[in-house]
This record gives sequence, C-alpha cells and structure tokens, in this order.
Amino acid sequence: MTISKVGIIGTGTMGLGVAQVCASAGHDVIAVKATPGPAEKAKDTVAKGLGKMVERGKMEAATRDAILGRMTFTGDENAVTDSDLVIESIIEDLETKKALFRRLDQVCRPDTLLTTNTSTLSVTAMMSVCQKRDRVAGLHFFNPAPVMKLVEVIHGFETSDETLQKLETFCNGINKDPVIVQDTTGFIVNRLLVPYMLNAIRMLERGTGAIETIDHAMKAGAAHPMGPFELADYIGLDVVEAMSMNIYMDVRHEHHAPPHTLTRLVQLGYLGRKTGKGFYDYSAKPPVQNPQLQRPVI
Ligand SMILES: NC(=O)c1ccc[n+]([C@@H]2O[C@H](COP(=O)([O-])OP(=O)(O)OC[C@H]3O[C@@H](n4cnc5c(N)ncnc54)[C@H](O)[C@@H]3O)[C@@H](O)[C@H]2O)c1
Repeated sequence: MTISKVGIIGTGTMGLGVAQVCASAGHDVIAVKATPGPAEKAKDTVAKGLGKMVERGKMEAATRDAILGRMTFTGDENAVTDSDLVIESIIEDLETKKALFRRLDQVCRPDTLLTTNTSTLSVTAMMSVCQKRDRVAGLHFFNPAPVMKLVEVIHGFETSDETLQKLETFCNGINKDPVIVQDTTGFIVNRLLVPYMLNAIRMLERGTGAIETIDHAMKAGAAHPMGPFELADYIGLDVVEAMSMNIYMDVRHEHHAPPHTLTRLVQLGYLGRKTGKGFYDYSAKPPVQNPQLQRPVI
C-alpha cells in the first residue's frame, strides 16, 4: 500500500501545518476539527498563509489553488476512516488521545496507519487501547511544520518494521528528514529542549537577567535562531507546560516540573504567540517583554 490519502485530526497550529505539508506534496488531505465550531475557519487560516507566499512571489497562485483543492475540512471524525494514514494532532493529553485512538482503531480500515504527533506522551500507551497495534506509531513534526525538516518517527512497543518503513518512505516523499526514535518521554528533541526552556524560566525567576537579555544572550552567544522565551511562546506555553509535566511524571525529578511563572501564565490564558501574549506581548510591533513579568510572579 502506498500512502495517498491522509487524515489529520486536530486543526490547531500543528494539525494545519502538517495538513499543508501533506497537501503540498500531492496527498489528498481530510482535516478534522476536533472541537465544536466551524471547520471552514481552518481552511481560511491555511489559505491566508499560502496567500502571503503568493504575495511575496514565493508561490504561484495556481500552486496555492491546487494545494487548497486537495484539502477537505470537516468536523466529522469518521471522514478519515478510508485514509491510508491518520496523523492526530489534538491537545497534549494522554486520556483524550487514548480515547481518540480507541475510536480510530475501531472505525478505520485495518491497514490504515494510525499515528500521533505527540511531543512527549507515550505512543505505546496510545497503542495499548488498539486491537491492531502493529500499525500504530508516532510521527512527530516540528513547528512550523511547513519549514522544519525533521520528523521523529516513533517506534512504539509493538510497531511493526513494515509500518516504520512505510512512514519513513512517506516522510521522504513529503520532503522531510525522518529519524527513527524509541518511545521514550520527549523522544530526542524535546527531551533536550524542554529542560533548556525550563532552566531559562528559573533563571528569570532568580533574577539572573530579563527575558530579552536571556534571549539575546542565547542568540548572540550560542547561535540559536530564537531565544528560549521566544521559542516557548512560539511552541505555545500550554504545550510547554504539558511537555514539562509529562517528563516530570516520567523521571520524578523536580528539576523537570513546570516552574511557577509558566504555570501562572497558562492559568491566565497567556499561551504565547497564539493568544497574543506570553513571555512577550505581541500587540506591540516589535513585541516587547510582557510587562506583568517585570516583578516576581506569585
Ligand atoms: N506547538 C508545537 O510546537 C508542537 C510541535 C510538535 C508537536 N506538537 C503536538 O501537537 C499536538 C497539538 O499541538 P498544537 O501546538 O497544534 O496545539 P493547538 O493548541 O494549536 O491545537 C490543539 C488542538 O487540539 C484540539 N483540542 C483542544 N481540546 C481538545 C479536546 N478536549 N479534545 C480533542 N481535541 C481538543 C483543538 O481543537 C486544536 O485542534 C500536541 O500533541 C502537541 O504536543 C506541538
């Protein structure tokens, strides 16, 4: 079986990015909005992003139209049952993802590959609720999905070699660089990156330096394209907090627990770029550090 039709569940930052990547590579894509509300809004988001590329002369209008023509948006999860591959990209919550895998395992074709774009959760735990487990794996893309080359292909406990090989071939076909990784919390990239971002937040809490100072130091001193606070805001602070919690629950070392400032920002709904405020306030052009963080967060 070659992968032709791809089902995406979840039309947030990552779901839409991955949907765009797959459609750009010629796949038919069905993108399912996983929470109530009009699914067409997601199409507008993709169309707007592609439209900017056309305006900047980086894409032909005909190419944009062809990509959008290969994408269907719906609120009906059952629309993916006939897909060759499903990539779920819903909220980073294990019980919610397990419930989804249980449903997908029952309704999808027996040869449909079922994958998760989880950042830190156990692929094997999602596999455990499925009857046909050899077709379950992780496909971990990076943000922004249309730009970042890496995909971690996660080898769950009972993922078959055939499934891994099909996923590797699929990733190469959508112009990504796949690496096969064993199913351990945070895999490779997030197991290294999350503690780095948490350390930066603790450094801020200790008063070592301001947000902009720490970001500037890592860009100018370590050649990082973004500082740790810019990166956390870009990823989404709710996602960073969930990743931190998942790693903490695995290793049980307080060093990996979400720092106070991160938890407070998430509680207040300041989730970074996607809500307009996080460590930075994006209503200002250029963004300025969130003024509420100039005094200690209690
Ligand atoms: N943001 C990143 O940098 C990044 C990178 C790689 C992977 N991921 C992973 O991708 C997944 C989605 O993250 P995102 O950044 O797109 O988040 P997001 O907040 O942009 O989107 C979350 C999606 O989950 C859906 N959702 C929310 N509550 C739900 C619920 N109770 N039940 C079902 N669906 C629900 C939303 O409708 C939305 O489609 C997560 O597993 C995350 O860890 C994120």
